[in-house]
Amino acid sequence: MRVGVLTGGGDCPGLNPAIRGVVMRGLQHGFEFVGLELGWKGLLEKRTVPLNLEVVEDIIRLGGTMLGSSRTNPFRKDRAEDAERCVQNFRELGLDALVALGGEDTLGVAHKMFRLGLPTVGVPKTMDNDLEGTDCTFGVDSAVSVAVDAADRLIDTGKSHRRIMVLEVMGRHAGWVALYTGLAAGADWILIPEVPVDLEEMCRALRAKWERGRHTALVVASEGIELPVLDTEDITVDAFGHVTLKQRRVAEFLAHEIEERVGIETRYAVLGHIQRGGAPTAFDRILGTRVGLRAADLVRDQQWGMMAALRGTEVIAVPLEHAVARLKTVPLELYEEAKSIFSQ
Ligand code: F6P
Repeated sequence: MRVGVLTGGGDCPGLNPAIRGVVMRGLQHGFEFVGLELGWKGLLEKRTVPLNLEVVEDIIRLGGTMLGSSRTNPFRKDRAEDAERCVQNFRELGLDALVALGGEDTLGVAHKMFRLGLPTVGVPKTMDNDLEGTDCTFGVDSAVSVAVDAADRLIDTGKSHRRIMVLEVMGRHAGWVALYTGLAAGADWILIPEVPVDLEEMCRALRAKWERGRHTALVVASEGIELPVLDTEDITVDAFGHVTLKQRRVAEFLAHEIEERVGIETRYAVLGHIQRGGAPTAFDRILGTRVGLRAADLVRDQQWGMMAALRGTEVIAVPLEHAVARLKTVPLELYEEAKSIFSQ
């Protein structure tokens, strides 16, 4: 079999281990691989790169994706011909199967390609952890580790200068990264998109902590929190219709509000893409490898339209349809559990 492999959407640590897992297992099944560069753009424009044992053997420790990535969407309404061109290119490249590594957008396209008749399987990835059908995705552990390191550093300097520190992390519509970072760093308040922001309550709690002698505080906020005042400006969207969240300047807004309301000097840091780069953690290397090799098995078994997913400690097959049906957001009970600690 000749198998095309692509990585789409925002990159994250764990993609290279997963590509390596797909290829090393696939070679055992006798497959030949073709790397498609820059996500769906690679299929759309027939941009290929070599993908063999030599190329993947040593990439387990590397961040990013050796195939490159993009947010190209071949199902854009204004470019009706793109999806058909992908199907045609699949045939012209002599491919027998396609493995797509990605989050809700990339796997949403994979599911549509499968429905158009392409033999496709998926590998879940996202640092946002918002993909249904799998307990967690590689990328999250690495991103949270970087964010916790940043949070620890902010607390050190915040303590020295008697300041409140705000850390903004990624996560789009799901607060997993903010919640896990805040919990692991011992944050004083955590704000996530799933829970309406109550500035009054947060500032009262920060003031109370200050008065009982805690002369610093860390607020961890997700870039996607609901603050209507931030959405009034002109905003841009990507090819999948997602708002570019960095334009909202969440941390800057929060720091200003906290300083005004609590009366304590407040500084902020936006972690941005720093949390997407760097070497994957051991957990992400292992998870990436495991879902990758399972995806190669799905190809061997012709389980088209399926994705390799983590359930408990097992890697199983779940329908792509299920994975992209809705976003996996933070349950309120989990946030409340965390709040019982951070609000103390
Ligand atoms: O989907 C992953 C993610 O890192 C989100 O958390 C974030 O909102 C987005 O990508 C940023 O996208 P870009 O790298 O295109 O700015």
